[in-house]
Order: sequence, then structure tokens, then C-alpha cells
Amino acid sequence: MADDPKRELRSRRWYGVSDLRSFNHRSRELQMGYSYDDFMGKPVVAIINTWSDINPCHAHFRTRAEEIKRGVWQAGGFPVELPAMSLAEIFVKPTTMLYRNLLALEVEELLRSHPVDGAVLMGGCDKTTPGTLMGAISMNLPTIFMPAGPMLRGNYAGQTLGSGSDVWKYWAEKQAGNIDETEWRSMEAGMARSFGTCMTMGTAPTMTALTETLGLSLPGASSIPAADSSHPRMATLCGRRIVEMIHEDLKPRDILTRASFLNALVVHMALAGSTNAMIHLVAMAGRAGIELSLDDFDRLAREIPVTANIRPSGAYLMEDFYYAGGLRAFLSTLAEKLDLTQKTVAGGTLGDQIKGAKVYNDDVIRPLSNPISSAVGTAILRGNLAPDGCVMKPSAAEPRLLKHSGPALVFRDYNHMQAEIDREDLDVTADHVLVLQNGGPIGGPGMPEWGMLPIPKKLLKQGVRDMVRISDARMSGTSYGACILHVAPEAYIGGPLAAVRNGDIISIDVERRSINLEVREAEIARRLAEWVPPDRTYQRGYNRIYAEHIRQADKGCDFDFLEGTAPVPEPEIH
Ligand code: FES
Repeated sequence: MADDPKRELRSRRWYGVSDLRSFNHRSRELQMGYSYDDFMGKPVVAIINTWSDINPCHAHFRTRAEEIKRGVWQAGGFPVELPAMSLAEIFVKPTTMLYRNLLALEVEELLRSHPVDGAVLMGGCDKTTPGTLMGAISMNLPTIFMPAGPMLRGNYAGQTLGSGSDVWKYWAEKQAGNIDETEWRSMEAGMARSFGTCMTMGTAPTMTALTETLGLSLPGASSIPAADSSHPRMATLCGRRIVEMIHEDLKPRDILTRASFLNALVVHMALAGSTNAMIHLVAMAGRAGIELSLDDFDRLAREIPVTANIRPSGAYLMEDFYYAGGLRAFLSTLAEKLDLTQKTVAGGTLGDQIKGAKVYNDDVIRPLSNPISSAVGTAILRGNLAPDGCVMKPSAAEPRLLKHSGPALVFRDYNHMQAEIDREDLDVTADHVLVLQNGGPIGGPGMPEWGMLPIPKKLLKQGVRDMVRISDARMSGTSYGACILHVAPEAYIGGPLAAVRNGDIISIDVERRSINLEVREAEIARRLAEWVPPDRTYQRGYNRIYAEHIRQADKGCDFDFLEGTAPVPEPEIH
């Protein structure tokens, strides 16, 4: 691919001029053992590596970074690996969501401040996909996202186990006394059998599939299991292709359009993807200056049935999805619903990307005419309890709960809920609606994944496995149940959720997309007028920046000062 002679590489400002500063830049590259032939005049590729010792989903990233470098060298580029925060979903507390925007800011500043012309982003574990992409979209240098890939299927006593989904399921059985400690430990050992992300349709496989649909990953990349030998080959291809993209000056905002985001929404619905993706997509679109609203999600959810038969809504796992043809095959089944003219990092269109794709197992990847359930994958509910909307995943709930009225049982925060939920004398029935307050963007903080409130032990023993649960928190994409999430505005800033009291009747009707507190409006207003903000302020550090600038869930939870497409200034080089 020929370089455009009119266009100068950004990195030339560091290496290619004759002054004291560039003497230092060149001299220090030589210090590292590189020769002029290695870096002079070549596209410099940042490899943003979210590896850490404590992120099992990215445990293969040290070797994958080398494989990406191999591709960069092959194509005549100069690779520079830059570590970024790893955001291990399981270990970071209170939640990685608190730090998604910090990662986005870190990536933006890493790219801005270093002599690089383009980037390969290495991510996959939940927030690392939107976090790295948000930063790269703002910086708008040529970028490819290299997905970590899902781990292998879990296995326990001859049964297939899915990340998260089966943990919740068997935990409920343990709480009900049906599983003993030894069996539980065996399950622990069989749940996660290789490096790679969760392999149910949680946030990681959802976000990497949507990233590929948006055109920001190579064709088919998102479905390859992390431990499959195709994965390192894909990594090397990312390295080769990014060098070409730098020559072509193909940038994220040349690829991202409202139509490409609507394509991602279509795929999200057909996958019954994680509810978290709704927040991330809105934030990513905001970085590209594209309007995306909860109403877009709801409109497409009514049109697009769930056709990916993957847990928690379906039966299979990501490894099965790959063997069934992967995302390219899945996109081909949705072709009539997609705008196939959209660009991708591969250089052609989405239509080019899926040419020749075949479905090898039509029980895993179903045709549009044979969805896995009559329930939609996502519903946006509104009403006096959630004026700015809230989210539910009807396909993962017991159908009887999709229209329900019941008395509220209110927990004022997570600690209150933990202290109360398993009390034998808890005044609760299967008809109650469990309400968790103060789990939102500021209240959590970071909207922890508390939204799948546990079923009270007392009811588990009676055989109850699902109830209506409402919160301003999120839930893991691997979770399931009649959980209503992301209530906006949140309780912590005086949203109507703060006005709910024990015994109030709450009604939901998914068909009508409604959620209401059956209390007179004047009484709700009176309670909110008397409402006192919870006693928790953030005096210093990142939490303070976060609390002062975070937007609500329906707006994507980005920082107000990072939204939009204002140009990122180039650093002065003195
Ligand atoms: Fe990393 Fe699920 S814990 S993707």
C-alpha cells in the first residue's frame, strides 16, 4: 500500500526533524537497541495492552502483543507496546464501571502524548472494550480493536458450565441446600478452563461482537476462542492491517456512523446481548458525535427477535457459536436488517465482510424465522418510577413476571440488602417486588452489578427462582431473571426510586413498556421534597472527579467533559 506523499506521519514530529528534542528521541530509540532502519520514516503503531497479572481474561496478552508486533514488522511498521489499566472484571472493586472512563482517558492521553500514528487496542474483559475504544474514538488515529476471545466451555461432572450464568444458577441450588461444599468446589475448578473472556453472552462477548459489527475489528475476529490457534494468527493480521490503515488514513470516525451503530443495535437484539452494552454504545456514539437514544434500542428490540441460542437467554456457549460459523455467519442471517454498505477496518464494507459466510449449526445460529423465544431481548420501560427510562431483558426472565403488580420490599443500599435478604423472618412473598436504592452511577458509585438481587433464602427453599427486582444498578450480562436495571434518574440524586417505601404497589407491564409506582403523584412529590441525600460525599481523588462529572445511565455514563468531538490538541514538542 503506497504512502500518501502529501500526508506526513504524525510520528515524524518526534523522529523526523533536526533539532535537539528529536536528537533525544532518536538517540533513545538507539539506546534500546533499535537501528534507524527499524523506526525512521515508518508508521509507528501503539499496541495498547491491558494485560495484568490479575486479569485471567487477558492472560494471553503478553504473547498476543508479540504476535501483533510480528504483523507490524512484516508490514513495514514500528510497534510500540504501551500498557494500560487492565480492569479485571472479577477483582476490581467496587466495580470496573467506576474506572471505564479512566481507562478511556488513559488511552486518549497515551495516544496523544506518544509518537504514534495508529493503534491496536487489546481488550475484551467487560469495560476494556468500551474503555479503550472511547479513548481511541476521541483521539481518532487509525485503530483496530483486537478482541481477547472467549475462554473454552466450562465442564463439571460431564455437564457444560457457562461463566456467571451457571454460577448464579448453582449458587441458588446451594442456598436451597441441594448442593454440598465438595460439589461446589469441583464446580469452581471446572468453571474457567482457559484464558479468555466469559463465554456466555455476557458483556465481553456482546461488546466484542458489537465492535466487529461497527467495523472496528477484523472480520470474524470476535468469535475466535482465545485458546484456538486462529487467535494468534488474527492478532498478527491486526498488526499487518493497522500499518495499511495508517497509510490509508482510515480512522474510527471515518467508519462510525449512525447507520453502523444501528447495525450494532440489530445485532445486540438478536444476540440478546448484555444490558451493559446499552450504556457503552451510547457513550461510544457520543464520542463520535452520533446521537443514540434508549428509544433506538426499544424500536429495534420490537423488530429483531433473539436468534443466537447462547446462555443466559439460550442453551449454548461462545465456543459453539464459533463452530456454528461465528459472527460472520450470524451477520449473514441478519443481512436484510443491516446496512451492509458501512465501512470496516478491513477496508471494504460490512457486506464484503460477510461474503461466503455459512451457518454450520442452525440450532445455535437460528434463522430470523426460528427465534429462540417469543420474548424480546431488551425492553426499555418508562413511567413515574423511571422518567428517563430503565432496562429489562425479557428473554432471560420467567414469562409470568413480564406483567406484574406487587408490594415493594425496599433496601436503601447494598449493605442493607445484604444484611436483610436471608433473614428467616423477612416479610416477603414471591409476589413482592424487591427494590434496591442507591446503586446508580453516583450512588454505587459506578453502578455495580447488584441488579440481580438475590432471591431471599426463605423463598429459595420454597422453590422460588425468579422475582421482579428493580434498581438503579447494572447486572452482569451473564445474569438472568426479571431484573429491571439502570433506573434513571438514580435514587442518589433524588430520582423517584428514592421515594419508594415498603408496601407501595409497583406495576410493570413489559408489553406496554411501563413501570409505575401506584402512589398518588402528590404523595410522591411530598416524599421527594422531604428526601435527604444519603450521607456520602467524595472529598478527593478520582472518586471526586467521577461524582462531579458522571452522566446518568440513559446518557451513557460518560464524563461531561469527554463527550463529543472537540479536537484533541496535539502536544507541544519542545
Ligand atoms: Fe473478564 Fe467476564 S470476567 S470477561
